[in-house]
Amino acid sequence: MSIIKKLPAILLLAPALCLLAVLRAEDAAVIEVATADSSLVLVTTGTNAPVVLRHYGSKTTDTRALLAKTVRQNQVYPAFGGVEHANLALNVIHADGSLTTELVYDGHEQRALDADRQETVVRLRDKQYPFFVELRLVAHKAANVITQRVTVSHKEPGPVRVENIASAYLPLRAGAYWLTHFHGAWGREMRVTEERLTSGGKVIEEFRKIVQATMADNPSFMLSLEHAAEEESGEVYAGTLAWSGNYKLAFTLDERETLHITAGMNPFAATRILDAGASLETPEMVLTYSARGRGQASRNLHDWARKYALYHGDQLRPILLNSWEGAYFKFDEKTLTDMMDDTAAFGIEMFVLDDGWFGNGKYARDSARAGLGDWQVNKKKLPRGIGYLADYAVSKGLRFGIWIEPEMVNPKSELAKKHPEWIVKSPGRDIPQSRNQWLLDLSNPAVQDFVAKVFDDTVALSPNITYIKWDANRPVYSVGSAWLPADRQEHFWKDYVDGLYKVYERVRAKHPHITIQLCSSGGGRVDYGALKYHDEFWASDNTNAVDRVLIQYGTNMIYPPIATGSHVSASPNHQTDMMIPLKFRFDVAMSGRLGMELQPKDLAGADRDFARKAIENYKLIRPVVQFGDLYRLYSPYNENGRAAIQYVAKDKKQAVLFAYNLYHLTSRGFSFDIKLRGLDPAKTYKVTEMNREPDRGTFANDGQLYTGEFLMNVGVSIQDSRSHKNLRPQKSSVLWLVEQ
Ligand code: GLA
Repeated sequence: MSIIKKLPAILLLAPALCLLAVLRAEDAAVIEVATADSSLVLVTTGTNAPVVLRHYGSKTTDTRALLAKTVRQNQVYPAFGGVEHANLALNVIHADGSLTTELVYDGHEQRALDADRQETVVRLRDKQYPFFVELRLVAHKAANVITQRVTVSHKEPGPVRVENIASAYLPLRAGAYWLTHFHGAWGREMRVTEERLTSGGKVIEEFRKIVQATMADNPSFMLSLEHAAEEESGEVYAGTLAWSGNYKLAFTLDERETLHITAGMNPFAATRILDAGASLETPEMVLTYSARGRGQASRNLHDWARKYALYHGDQLRPILLNSWEGAYFKFDEKTLTDMMDDTAAFGIEMFVLDDGWFGNGKYARDSARAGLGDWQVNKKKLPRGIGYLADYAVSKGLRFGIWIEPEMVNPKSELAKKHPEWIVKSPGRDIPQSRNQWLLDLSNPAVQDFVAKVFDDTVALSPNITYIKWDANRPVYSVGSAWLPADRQEHFWKDYVDGLYKVYERVRAKHPHITIQLCSSGGGRVDYGALKYHDEFWASDNTNAVDRVLIQYGTNMIYPPIATGSHVSASPNHQTDMMIPLKFRFDVAMSGRLGMELQPKDLAGADRDFARKAIENYKLIRPVVQFGDLYRLYSPYNENGRAAIQYVAKDKKQAVLFAYNLYHLTSRGFSFDIKLRGLDPAKTYKVTEMNREPDRGTFANDGQLYTGEFLMNVGVSIQDSRSHKNLRPQKSSVLWLVEQ
């Protein structure tokens, strides 16, 4: 319940509250932003006083006691000026050149958006200038998530320069702080790193790429208080910035051992010139607090995402076969229809035609060197058009999807010749290429129209197209916009992303039913700003199942498994040359949104039968994987090459365990005792092994009944039934639990 509480005047007489006593009692207010299990409490003591972030953590309703505590006086949104000196959320240069800003309370409102969400708007103003800040917090009660975005505006006599504007600020006080963040590169996205923060600063940022902003680091974190994070206990804060551009997360441990966290757009070379009467809005920062470790923090984010931050978050995802690694650019109609025959025979539900279907003549898209921008069907490869293929898919009982990369252009294309002014470039300089391509300037409304039209036109190729894979395969280099005026070039970073979101909005208004995959050379654009418009993302171009265990483990700390495209590909793997057993590849891919990405006719004999059965099994476990609660049991990062995760249905009637041995000769090899989590102790479950290879079980008590209590307190033992094989790498086990 969020309420405004006027302070009884008597309270102000208490000696412990001497700090409050100088302020006007009648204006003092407590602003509670509450979820089911957490409270964020703001306190202000008058219209000329700042707003203090007094508490964010476990739930409390005893706001009187909070008022008595005067140690923490960190403002909810610290601006540069006055006595604020730690991480600053806001830094502006006023019209008269003044560098300082002092924000004070100017009112607040609260309203229910619906039964689950409550919005709190806190208004702040500068003490002296007509400069205004509005914090918009939304409490998502059931998922325990609080989001915040900030808007600034002013009525000063000239433009104000906004040098830095964070989406959120969070001060924490504890004895020790452990930061989990996600670092990677192409092919190894979202690697989990945890470190203890020491005095000084730690910055996680991307300041120049915009596109592919999440390829190296991700704008997300988890922060554990007092000790390294545990999975199911201890206080953990998680945060993720919903923004598909340059970002900065800063963690500063000051001399008083307070940790100051700020998160928002990256201010590097990004001053915004704000005219009087105009306003500037930040992206949304998403925060959750968990008193039950990192595990609950992830489950909170997943619940929130499925409901509010993912398109069609309540719908099961189809199993698909993507043509990329099976055909690359080398296909004709027959290649694809043959692939579709096999796809259907495997029990897969959708066929996705990847890159290579467009461009004609000298600009045919027969490699990555030409054709981007010319979105006309390649007549040579596909004489009967996309319509024929899509109809063929449907005749086989499959849905049909197709790939586009509409923000990009190859210099070798009609488009590049026609619209040189649409290309991001620095005047007079060479335009660097990456993957032989250039980037279109989405800050320009004409480019926005073009990109939206590429989507419309592609979907119009056939009414049977129900899935689009939207790719983006290069970042910004040598920035510059022919559209933006010379004195507004620094607006490019934000205007590009705003332009992209405008296109997404248009696309979604027109095509609400299309499934859209977010892809940027794999996980280069995985953030909640873009995901809001998408159904899923391609987590990595690396389909090596061993690497995928690590990538998906990190990815799913923040982003939900239902959206994590996870494909079985060929062996040897195309990115790493590693040979990996088919069972292991399936057992990994089935822990996300299952797909296949290979030439299906290459799977023959026993492999074919195995694949068909595994796909059937996935259909059984799919609701649990996609809508259930994720528990991480063994981390692939620190458990001797072993990993295990588990999903439990919300009603606890079903659960599925995935266990993996990643490397060769790890301590005991593939022989684990695993205590399960999240089950109902009072229920009895039948435990069966899934994807079991003939004569090679990994669970000796297949089909046995166990109580939830036993499974959680004692656990199950798994190992290869042929013990001499136990030390081999890439062994795996999938156990399926069903209430009896
Ligand atoms: C990117 C994507 C791949 C594939 C290729 C096609 O690399 O990440 O999945 O679509 O482009 O060119």
